[in-house]
Amino acid sequence: MKRVAILISGGGSNMVKLVESMTGDHPARAVIVGSNDPHAGGLAKAAAMGVPTFAVDHRAYKGDRAAFEAALIEPILAAQPDILCLAGFMRILTPDFVQRFEGRMLNIHPSLLPKYPGLHTHQRAIEAGDAEAGASVHLVTPELDAGPILGQAVVPVLPDDTPDQLAARVLVQEHRLYPEVLRRFALGDQTPVSLTAA
Ligand code: GRF
Repeated sequence: MKRVAILISGGGSNMVKLVESMTGDHPARAVIVGSNDPHAGGLAKAAAMGVPTFAVDHRAYKGDRAAFEAALIEPILAAQPDILCLAGFMRILTPDFVQRFEGRMLNIHPSLLPKYPGLHTHQRAIEAGDAEAGASVHLVTPELDAGPILGQAVVPVLPDDTPDQLAARVLVQEHRLYPEVLRRFALGDQTPVSLTAA
C-alpha cells in the first residue's frame, strides 16, 4: 500500500477528491495533509475524513525559504510517504526540497502545459484566444511547472468565458484527472492519462 502525503494552500478541493479516491482496492492511502496556511479550509476537510493534518505558516519565516522548508519537511518525513501530491499548493519549492522527492512528487496545474506555466492561466488562455484549455498533472522538477506530464484534461474555451467560468469548468476535470493519474502512478504506471470533458 503506497503512502500519500498531500500539500494544500486553500480549500483543497483536489485533495478531497484524491483522499476520497484512495479506498477499497486502490493501491494507495492518504497518510497526511499539510498546508503552508494554518487557516487553509482544506485542513478541516482532511480532518473530517480522518486524515492527520499539519500546518507550517510560511509567513513565520519571512521569505527564508530554506527555513520554511526545513520546518515543512519534518511532518512530511515523519509520515513516511511514498508519494507527495501538491494540490493547490501555492508556494514555490526550492530545488533542494524537490530533489528530496523527485520522481515521486506530483502537481496539478490549471493549464495545458507547457502552455501557461505560472499564474493567471485561464485569463492568459482567454486573452490568447485559445479554443481549448485544461489542466495538467506532472512530475515536479526544480523548474516551475515543467516536469514530465502524467495526464491532461481538455475543456473548450467558450466565446464569452470569464476566467472564473473557465476555471470552474477546468476544476471539474481536475477532480477527475488527478485521482486517475495518482491511481496509475501508485501502480507504477506512468502512461499519460488523457481526458476530454465528459
Ligand atoms: C486549482 O485551480 C488547481 O489547479 C490549482 O489550485 C486551484 C485550487 O485548487 N493548483 P484546490 O481547490 O485548493 O484543490
